[in-house]
Amino acid sequence: MSGNLAFIGAGRMAGAMVRGILNKGICEGHRITCTSAPDGTAEALARDTGIHCTYDWNTLLKNATWVILACKPQQLKELPADLGKLTAGKQILSILAGTTLSRLKEVFPESSNIIRCMPNTPGMIGMGITGFSPLNELDDEDEAQVRGMLGALGEVIRLPENSLDAVTGVSGSGPAYVFEFVAALRDGGVEAGLDEETAYKLALKTVQGAAALLKAVPETPETHRNWVSSPGGTTLAGLEVMGEANFREIIKKTVAAATHRSKELSGS
Ligand SMILES: NC(=O)c1ccc[n+]([C@@H]2O[C@H](COP(=O)([O-])OP(=O)(O)OC[C@H]3O[C@@H](n4cnc5c(N)ncnc54)[C@H](OP(=O)(O)O)[C@@H]3O)[C@@H](O)[C@H]2O)c1
Repeated sequence: MSGNLAFIGAGRMAGAMVRGILNKGICEGHRITCTSAPDGTAEALARDTGIHCTYDWNTLLKNATWVILACKPQQLKELPADLGKLTAGKQILSILAGTTLSRLKEVFPESSNIIRCMPNTPGMIGMGITGFSPLNELDDEDEAQVRGMLGALGEVIRLPENSLDAVTGVSGSGPAYVFEFVAALRDGGVEAGLDEETAYKLALKTVQGAAALLKAVPETPETHRNWVSSPGGTTLAGLEVMGEANFREIIKKTVAAATHRSKELSGS
């Protein structure tokens, strides 16, 4: 890709994007600069990846074409008051949860375009999925650059902005639900008499394997479930407990709660 990248924030998600962009050869390290709050994550990321870091906002932004906003939503108000001027004519890519394009336009009024994105942490190993929505239409070259940068985290889908709260509810927060499921499966194994290490290994490999099987054999999750469930068998005995406990309703309510919180955060 052409141009220089400036990262505002150098934490988990910024680190995942930088490493993915470097690993996939999307942009060389000498064209990437990051900053953070003055307690060090920027230096650590620069040391670890070979990109530049600075705490001077002029140095960070003057030669940047793309500005990647990767601080926490609540840290937006701590950014310099003249950020709007410093980012005049630049393209902004924001991964902030629940922060709308109209809110971002207030912070970056002179930017040439703003792209709101919702990635997820599996992006740290290139196994993520990111939804994105631009403020203004993207020409082919810019769309390719956006997809290139977000592709560093894994799969990319373009959606209307009003879908990004639901994206947050499913894939943005979703990894935490799966981690919770793995922990519950592990604990079930321990209560059934296994040692914790064995129970965790079985739980993790089962979730990894089931997800890979779903991808490899493109049948519905319900069909795959039925293939494991022989009449009067062990699986059905387990699924009955999940059914009585309204497991599917619980997950639907979980997604609804995260989606609602994203809307609340964005004041919509
Ligand atoms: N983690 C996820 O699962 C996930 C998924 C989707 C979207 N997101 C979004 O991604 C964003 C980053 O999340 P994260 O998990 O990567 O958070 P994080 O690890 O806490 O990173 C935040 C970064 O912002 C820096 N920062 C804080 N105040 C700053 C300031 N005033 N100026 C410049 N930089 C500042 C922090 O610096 P210090 O460390 O030095 O304080 C840190 O480098 C959030 O907006 C979140 O909504 C996260």
